Amino acid sequence: MKVNIGIIGTGRIADTELVPALNQVNGACFWSVLSRDKQRAESFADRHGAQAKYSSFDSLAAFLADPALDAVIIATPDGLHAQQAIACARAGKHVLIEKPIATTVEDAKQVCDACLEERVKLAVAYHMRWHDGHRQVASMLHSGKFGKPHYARAMWTWKADDNSNWRAHSENGRWWGLAGVGTHCVDFLRWMLMPPCGEVTAVASLIDKSTYGGPHDETASISMQFGNGAVADVMTSVMFSATSRFEICCSNAVVIGEGTLATNGGGIISINDEPLEFKLVNPYVGELNNFVNAIGGHARVEVSGAEGLRNIEILLQADQ
Ligand SMILES: NC(=O)c1ccc[n+]([C@@H]2O[C@H](COP(=O)([O-])OP(=O)(O)OC[C@H]3O[C@@H](n4cnc5c(N)ncnc54)[C@H](OP(=O)(O)O)[C@@H]3O)[C@@H](O)[C@H]2O)c1
Repeated sequence: MKVNIGIIGTGRIADTELVPALNQVNGACFWSVLSRDKQRAESFADRHGAQAKYSSFDSLAAFLADPALDAVIIATPDGLHAQQAIACARAGKHVLIEKPIATTVEDAKQVCDACLEERVKLAVAYHMRWHDGHRQVASMLHSGKFGKPHYARAMWTWKADDNSNWRAHSENGRWWGLAGVGTHCVDFLRWMLMPPCGEVTAVASLIDKSTYGGPHDETASISMQFGNGAVADVMTSVMFSATSRFEICCSNAVVIGEGTLATNGGGIISINDEPLEFKLVNPYVGELNNFVNAIGGHARVEVSGAEGLRNIEILLQADQ
């Protein structure tokens, strides 16, 4: 039986990545969509081939009232995630929530509690974990092949045209570059380093907001220290577009990735200057496969609500 998955939000990530990827997942189908605008919902449902008889909604209650809807992807501005996720959970729907899980620790905890109480799966959408090269590096690093990790960093930037996006404002956002891409970097570094190094125990940061003078980070540098002393840096900016980059420096190996922190599963990775071969796979398909398999009881959710919560605790520590 297929898992019927609806989506809230018809924006960029829903339209260009999530629903096209959902349409490639075995055992699932794109079922219905909720938008603030009925016509936008209808054209989105048509464009992506929604399967429900009534597939487009502009009311959350009506969208969730469909008994055939099994699960919901939440792809709206960050500040709306928690209330929507809680409503989905209370309606008995499994939830895949875009990163960051929420904009406050309290909201994130309420999302986790609601999903636990209603016994629905909760996954947080950190698609970088399904990049084939990243998975190979994580597996080798966690097996001890690279020796002891001492230092890592991740840099991801994009150039915003102006400050009109909701991320730049506090009504529906809490961070700008740090939410757009920085939370991916935090999650990536924790995923890579935590098994050998323990949890993040200290966070320091420098944040520039001076070009637009708004409430949120434009360029940010975060340093994290892990339990065993290893140090990692995150660098994000919305002021320039550079090729993304990560470095993981261990006692026996230095791993460098260029252009892998992205949407397409590509880029290049080297280990001690030797290229690593990996498959070009769509990481959003992997993320959705994991969600669907977890719903079916065939896998554990790889990025849980608790992980999503920890990732925002670090951003909040960095930008108080
Ligand atoms: N994992 C990734 O690779 C990735 C990449 C980009 C974004 N994201 C995450 O996905 C979420 C959406 O990001 P996005 O880039 O797709 O944003 P976006 O293009 O601005 O789309 C957000 C959508 O949310 C809906 N929405 C509901 N209330 C809204 C409001 N008050 N203001 C604006 N939009 C509202 C809108 O759809 P309707 O008008 O149809 O209601 C809008 O199109 C964010 O949490 C973001 O962090 C993840």
